[in-house]
Amino acid sequence: MAAIVFAFPENGLLAENLVAGMRAEQGNYMLRQFPDGETYLRILSDVEGKEVVLVCTLNRPDDKILSLLFFCRQVKELKAASVCLVAPYMAYMRQDKAFKPGEAITSAYFANLISSFADRLITIDPHLHRRRSMQEIYSIPCEVLHATALISSYIKEHITNALLIGPDSESEQWVSGIAKDAGVPFIILQKTRRGDTEVEVSIPEVENYKAHVPVVIDDIISTAHTMMETISHLKEKGMPPPVCIGVHAVFTEETFSRLLSSGAKEVVTCNTIAHGSNRIDISQLIVNTFKQQEP
Ligand code: R5P
Repeated sequence: MAAIVFAFPENGLLAENLVAGMRAEQGNYMLRQFPDGETYLRILSDVEGKEVVLVCTLNRPDDKILSLLFFCRQVKELKAASVCLVAPYMAYMRQDKAFKPGEAITSAYFANLISSFADRLITIDPHLHRRRSMQEIYSIPCEVLHATALISSYIKEHITNALLIGPDSESEQWVSGIAKDAGVPFIILQKTRRGDTEVEVSIPEVENYKAHVPVVIDDIISTAHTMMETISHLKEKGMPPPVCIGVHAVFTEETFSRLLSSGAKEVVTCNTIAHGSNRIDISQLIVNTFKQQEP
């Protein structure tokens, strides 16, 4: 089935790579706000009988979700065969439990909403913690891709004598794999989160690794408190400034600057969310997924 790729705002570069890699048609549409703040949408390309691939990473999801819903409904109205949402960063994965009575498990509600208007989802390293798979909350097929091999290659090519550091027990799942692939040692810290911006980490013995370059790896960098707390402990232990690698650059520009001035040697991210720190390109992972389905 012919695919047509549409880019939501700020997803243009990634969508271009998909168009080139998949040799697909690029879709055109108009999306703007009316003066009263409501959304105007017009699909300009012919989508009838085609697989619509919509590239929309889901940082700041509340700003995007309604346009996304309108878009998917409208291409279906215009007889698209199916809609595949490519959301390299998937939002609302962290509130997966009611920690206090009355708290909404928003990850489930969000999954329910997306499943009501998209037919298929492709995402990269979603924050699966207490849930084992996306299918526990999504009722549409979800393909989960991993940036770990690309991160290992980056480390092998750019960092000599690395010591990988996972800031919390959740990070062990990917840090251990990356370390194995890159052939370097790793340690995992213990993290206690006391609030949105209050994080404490404890550092195990790093004395044996004083000659190494610390590389802190996390899936998400958001407020950057996890990274900054880790940096401050590494400093206390006399370690050199670490390279901070995050899959998803969820942070604001202000937070990014704060992270750099807190003592990070460099901040490196994947292009799941467009940002100046993007050094690791995940486009080919997505292209390969579409290529594998070709007859
Ligand atoms: C949490 O469990 C994640 O793996 C990240 O450690 C967390 O989202 C980072 O958030 P922040 O940058 O706000 O500390």
